[in-house]
Amino acid sequence: MDANEFRRPVGWRKGRQVDPAALERVRQLLDGLPPRRDLLIEHLHRIQDAEGCLPAPLLAALADWLGLAQAEVYEVATFYHHFEPVREGEARPPALTVRVCDSLPCRLNGAEALLTALAQRLGREARVQRVPCIGRCAEAPAAVVGRRPIAPAAPDAVLDAVAGGDFECPVPDAQDYAAYRSAGGYRQLAQLLDGRRSRESILEELDGSALRGLGGAGFPIGRKWRIVAQQAGPRLMVINADEGEPGTFKDRHCLERAPHRVLEGMLIAATAAGCEACYIYLRDEYAGVRALLARELAALRADPPVPGHALPDIHLRRGAGAYVCGEESALIESVEGKRGMPRLRPPYVAEAGLFGRPTLAHNVETLYWVPEILERGAAWFAGHGRRGRRGLRWFSVSGRVRDPGVKLAPAGISARELIDEFCGGMLPGHALYAYLPGGASGGVLPASLADEPLDFDTLQPHGAFIGSAAVIVLSQHDSAVDAACNLMAFFRDESCGQCTPCRVGTAKAAREIAREHWNTGLLRELSAAMMDASICGLGQAAPNPVLSVLRHFAHELDAREPPQR
Ligand SMILES: Cc1cc2nc3c(=O)[nH]c(=O)nc-3n(C[C@H](O)[C@H](O)[C@H](O)COP(=O)(O)O)c2cc1C
Ligand code: SF4
Ligand code: FES
Repeated sequence: MDANEFRRPVGWRKGRQVDPAALERVRQLLDGLPPRRDLLIEHLHRIQDAEGCLPAPLLAALADWLGLAQAEVYEVATFYHHFEPVREGEARPPALTVRVCDSLPCRLNGAEALLTALAQRLGREARVQRVPCIGRCAEAPAAVVGRRPIAPAAPDAVLDAVAGGDFECPVPDAQDYAAYRSAGGYRQLAQLLDGRRSRESILEELDGSALRGLGGAGFPIGRKWRIVAQQAGPRLMVINADEGEPGTFKDRHCLERAPHRVLEGMLIAATAAGCEACYIYLRDEYAGVRALLARELAALRADPPVPGHALPDIHLRRGAGAYVCGEESALIESVEGKRGMPRLRPPYVAEAGLFGRPTLAHNVETLYWVPEILERGAAWFAGHGRRGRRGLRWFSVSGRVRDPGVKLAPAGISARELIDEFCGGMLPGHALYAYLPGGASGGVLPASLADEPLDFDTLQPHGAFIGSAAVIVLSQHDSAVDAACNLMAFFRDESCGQCTPCRVGTAKAAREIAREHWNTGLLRELSAAMMDASICGLGQAAPNPVLSVLRHFAHELDAREPPQR
């Protein structure tokens, strides 16, 4: 036999072959998008939107088009909940998906019953998926039909939406560019750009206001801008609109009503810190806000607010369903077109962030406050506050209160005051039993601690923190143990899997606390390992609900029967 018979033809590429028809389809779908690696998630969205999934031949063709290894594309496609890779020979998913939120506020309001009813009543025209918080917790339970949010979502309302055939999210009725400008908007940016106001005076104003980052960590804003400005350029900015913390919906509120206030805050921050380009990373669930921002950014670019001063490049990027991408270094990985896995620090993102450049990262609400503080003065903002705390913030309140929603309240307000003064009190028949001051991550506190000031650095002695100020209220009809089970399942599902204490710890803790009898020694040990050895805040905060139960709600565990011997 001729030994050459087994040689592959010259130019033959090993591995999965690229189908020329698939390559043509990819080219057609991605028309107008450059073949850049950092746009990989945008490319995947285009394909997923058109095909309803990510067929393997198209993924192979996409890798070829981008000049990437197929494994690199596949690992990204499988990381995000909203992408659905489908192998050759596998069935495609149904054309329509109904997503039902099962995070805590929705669970308190009947998410399980809704899931059961929809599974029974929806035919083959749609499938039902459990998903984490979609940022509509005040109208719980919430569902999304295609991209159309339904909240509150009674089974009939969901079935009507499925039958109605309109699966798009309406664009919010926001203050547009013209209205914002005629109300004096972009005046502070103009003053900074044309030299009427110095960068230093802006930083001093912000220092005096005591504004801190409202995404969760509470880092002083002026200090962050100075750190970034001191780094060698070029510098970049990322705007964190990922808002995935269960119970949080205040960033959506800011963007849906006053997008240009956030954009002006962004442009002032980018100018003051010397950033050349801004990347807005918006969670995929906020499809209406995405359309709104696309429209308003186009208006802004078409008629920049300060003549003679070009705008920095502003990019709107779409998340793909991954809570961990709210963590700033994971967000940056995602903007680079990779899996959203948090980075080890140092270096901090202010030193080496997006594309290795010094990066200013800010939450939406933090930027929302910047123009108003500059307009009305530091004393105005700092003048609000109770119990010696300073400032204002939007609280997202959900759960057993009469009037849940986004509430503008002073820093240092207590949970009891927030409920009584801003939410019309508890629901009839419900008495305050417990509350979560900072969504899933911030721990669970008993009613006996409902007079503590809600602010940064006030709740740590009780094993809790305010984080994104998502206050979830529980009543005597609820159980902290059930809440902990729901929260731990969330962390297990959302762990990026990069580090063992978090990947294994959240899964093990979820299993352990679902048992009738808790092995408290084991749970304490596991929690300590997760807090000490996890890379990012997800794994470090994941034990909080368990530790809260052990610390404040041990009576729920005591009330259970001891194990039978
Ligand atoms: C697991 C995890 C999720 C986070 N999610 C968000 C988020 O959705 N939005 C946000 O602004 N910050 C989030 N953060 C905080 C960010 O890492 C970062 O501190 C923040 O965006 C910085 O902006 P700020 O200084 O304006 O608060 C998250 C942090 C962790 C650890
Ligand atoms: S702590 Fe969890 S989410 Fe964070 S990097 Fe580790 S595995 Fe990923
Ligand atoms: S929308 Fe369900 S918990 Fe937020």
